[in-house]
Amino acid sequence: MESKKTLGLALILQLLQLFLVSGSLHRSQFPDSFLFGTATSAYQIEGAWLEGNKSLTIWDVFSHLPGKITDGSNGDVADDHYHRYLEDVKMMHSLGINAYRFSISWSRILPRGRFGGINTEGVEFYNNIINALLSKGIQPVVTICHFDLPQELQDRYGAWLSSEIQEDFGYFAEVCFKEFGDRVKYWITINEPNLILKFGYVTGGYPPARCSQPFGNCTSGDSTREPYIAAHNCILSHAIAVDIYKSNYQMKQGGVIGLVLNSRWYEPLRNISDDYIAAQRALAFDLGWFLDPVILGDYPTEMREILGSKLPTFTSEDRKKLRHKIDFIGINHYTTHYVQDCIFSHCELDKYNGNALVFASGEMNGQLIGPRTPIKSMYVVPYGIEKMIMYFKERYNNTPMYITENGLGQKNSNDTSKDDMVNDTDRINFIHDYLSYVVKAMRRGADVRGYFVWSLMDSFEWLYGYTVRFGLFYVDWATLKRTPKLSAKWYQEFLAGQRMLQKADKNSKTQGFM
Ligand SMILES: *[C@@H]1O[C@H](CO)[C@@H](O)[C@H](O)[C@H]1NC(C)=O
Ligand SMILES: *[C@@H]1O[C@H](CO)[C@@H](O)[C@H](O)[C@H]1NC(C)=O
Ligand SMILES: *[C@@H]1O[C@H](CO)[C@@H](O)[C@H](O)[C@H]1NC(C)=O
Ligand SMILES: *[C@@H]1O[C@H](CO)[C@@H](O)[C@H](O)[C@H]1NC(C)=O
Ligand SMILES: *[C@@H]1O[C@H](CO)[C@@H](O)[C@H](O)[C@H]1NC(C)=O
Repeated sequence: MESKKTLGLALILQLLQLFLVSGSLHRSQFPDSFLFGTATSAYQIEGAWLEGNKSLTIWDVFSHLPGKITDGSNGDVADDHYHRYLEDVKMMHSLGINAYRFSISWSRILPRGRFGGINTEGVEFYNNIINALLSKGIQPVVTICHFDLPQELQDRYGAWLSSEIQEDFGYFAEVCFKEFGDRVKYWITINEPNLILKFGYVTGGYPPARCSQPFGNCTSGDSTREPYIAAHNCILSHAIAVDIYKSNYQMKQGGVIGLVLNSRWYEPLRNISDDYIAAQRALAFDLGWFLDPVILGDYPTEMREILGSKLPTFTSEDRKKLRHKIDFIGINHYTTHYVQDCIFSHCELDKYNGNALVFASGEMNGQLIGPRTPIKSMYVVPYGIEKMIMYFKERYNNTPMYITENGLGQKNSNDTSKDDMVNDTDRINFIHDYLSYVVKAMRRGADVRGYFVWSLMDSFEWLYGYTVRFGLFYVDWATLKRTPKLSAKWYQEFLAGQRMLQKADKNSKTQGFM
């Protein structure tokens, strides 16, 4: 009798557990202080490319080159956020978010870098946004550089390829701390330097479109050397900004500063130790490349072993710049790939990760790792975010983490209607499932402090132009009218404290959770 009762109770508890863990998501699973927000970047939403004394950025110039952007579009107008920011802040407030991540256009603040004056109109624009956010109780989380830098710095000295960029970036960062740091408490130095440098200097798909065969087809560049030189300058630019903040501003302004990486998780393709090691190597080449120097003080040994003298070394002067640690790691996480070792097995080197002597892909024996999305390299693999977080937790001694981007794109074409786009149950399930695995990582002790949906609204998606929509809000490109999607309503209900279950929909077979 007694044991039957216990058994019954255990069963109920187990069912309850199953319901709580796998079935639903609740705001109370996160601390009150947890930041829940949305993210954007300047070039993708602002438009007003020739207004307010802004200079041209490398993306203004690049997107106007024929054949670079899928739909031949550009960010000249984008979401016209420059003129509609007040409406956009109201929209954010309607979601109930307590934080908003956006970036500052370098060319609006310092049109000529350190070779000209501070543009007061640009400063005023960001002051207005920051003040509007704070008046609604939304914390600004500011990225100092998100892909776009003044074309003049590219033309003068080759931007990231020259050590001169360190001085320019330090100057820009200090102007930001001075002008905005009394109100901005969360700073990100650079967004996804790993992706900027791989696309800009390995495969050549992003400006400045430098690369060499077999990694890409560019008119100049060296895919096996330049990314490491550019990265070295990126790391030291970041370090100088952190040094300036920590030495002169942090005490009186009381904020934190970190770095954001494009954090793709890698699973071994085959159940053999070569592939386990290869997955670790891919992680070191992709993420340790930046985080090891800024947290542990030097590049990963895996990189040194393979790259030898192609990998720069930190001088004692550099090490002084690196003396301060970051306050947090920003994780932009979207997907997971399989990785195969190409040292002991013969395989074609991956374009994106080839320098790590691996091949990465979303398929194993014809089976996808997860459902495809409109972005070719992105598959839906919710468990990947838990593994990614736990990897950072172990390697970097549980440095505080923010999920600075996570989200799902929808393919936008002439065949898709506004109704299809607004009825985005697949995005709801994506966010639900990924957030559920963030909860799991936190239960295992990971110090995660925030989560930002990419993106607030549909915007200019770099090489994809306007063919992919990532927003919680739908944007009609003809009228620029914003309309909340179902996912906006879902996020709002979740933030208001409702228990959220996964939605069943037409995609539930491919988007299912567990
Ligand atoms: C733009 O800058 C010039 C000086 O470089 C200044 O004379 C002009 O007033 C500025 N325009 C605006 C709209 O701020
Ligand atoms: C590389 O680019 C050149 C010039 O744009 C073109 O003629 C050539 O076919 C391209 N090669 C490959 C392998 O794509
Ligand atoms: C991987 O291989 C080991 C033995 O080498 C085996 O014990 C294990 O079950 C395998 N795992 C999977 C997922 O196949
Ligand atoms: C989509 O529609 C636009 C405008 O109606 C047209 O210019 C474009 O060619 C169409 N694209 C395709 C792929 O049909
Ligand atoms: C949204 O999609 C669901 C499932 O496919 C469907 O039942 C519902 O009617 C759709 N709603 C709208 C507004 O299209």
